[in-house]
Amino acid sequence: MIKGQKKTALIDTVDPTKEDDLLDNLDDLEIEHLDYIVVNHAEQDHSGAIPLMLELYSEAKIVTNQKCKKMLMEHLLIKEDRIITVNDNDTLSLGGKTLKFIFTPWVHWPETMLTYLKEDKILFSCDLFGAHFAESNLWVDDESKVYFAAKRYYAEIMMPFRNNIKKHLERLKGLEIKTIAPSHGQIYSHPEFILSAYREWVSDEVENEVIIPYVSMHGSVEEMVYILTEELMRKGITVKPFNLTRTDIGALAIALVDAATIVIASPTVLTGVHPQVVSAVYLANALRPKLRYASVIGSYGWGGKMLENISSMIGNLKVEILSPVIVKGYPKEEDYNSLIRLADEIAEKHKNL
Ligand code: FEO
Repeated sequence: MIKGQKKTALIDTVDPTKEDDLLDNLDDLEIEHLDYIVVNHAEQDHSGAIPLMLELYSEAKIVTNQKCKKMLMEHLLIKEDRIITVNDNDTLSLGGKTLKFIFTPWVHWPETMLTYLKEDKILFSCDLFGAHFAESNLWVDDESKVYFAAKRYYAEIMMPFRNNIKKHLERLKGLEIKTIAPSHGQIYSHPEFILSAYREWVSDEVENEVIIPYVSMHGSVEEMVYILTEELMRKGITVKPFNLTRTDIGALAIALVDAATIVIASPTVLTGVHPQVVSAVYLANALRPKLRYASVIGSYGWGGKMLENISSMIGNLKVEILSPVIVKGYPKEEDYNSLIRLADEIAEKHKNL
């Protein structure tokens, strides 16, 4: 809520399930009149309470961009005459407080924008720089805790739009920012912490890391994962195996932010990939991480198309495919040798990261 000398503006609302909290906060602030509701993003966790706000504050106008206007009319059935549209870099004076609108498409929808409060140098960044994190303290007080929550948020929501974010970060360099107030998580009073984390995550640099999402039904795949992990570790490579029957899928997404290589490991079920591996590969493909190399290891009982299935599912990954190792039954000596050769191949590739 920003109160100028002449006008009052609310930046974004809440998910409909949180309307009561929003109303309580407005009561506490004794807000009886509202001129503007700035809408940075049309997704319902930000916009869902707009219809209620427009009903309660019949004088209020929505301030947003043209793309967002269309979405609000489509998703929330908001009437056109309640919406004022702004252009990129436009400003809106509230009287001693000036809002500047910065269009940042695709973080993570096409209409997303940020709002900058000039006099106080606060960037209301909406989803960008958000974290799945809530504490009673509104301000970031433990950067190490927030780092992982923000990285998870980036991995799960922002990573497919890495190249857009890169451009937006460049643009933000021209802005003096004292505070970043995202719509998810705590407020950053030292913005450089999250800005530098984002610069690292969106960069083209990858870590000397291999991630191995896997499922094993009768022990063959698990043994293969174990052998490959041991060999890679011996070569000084960080390895992160994820047993997909137990793993937190968000942890896998976080690992995808930095890793150079993914080795997908699956048994053969109903002639194809194990369903839990399908789910993880689908996610990895959709998140478009900056992986450089990929391979597949796994086993089968009598036949199947597990390898072909996985190959057809990773079209978004701009990776070089390294030698797969597919074993009939339990791994034997020649299979161990193939896994060692795969580890050699990965180590060779990682020399040039
Ligand atoms: Fe894209 Fe927080 O919603």
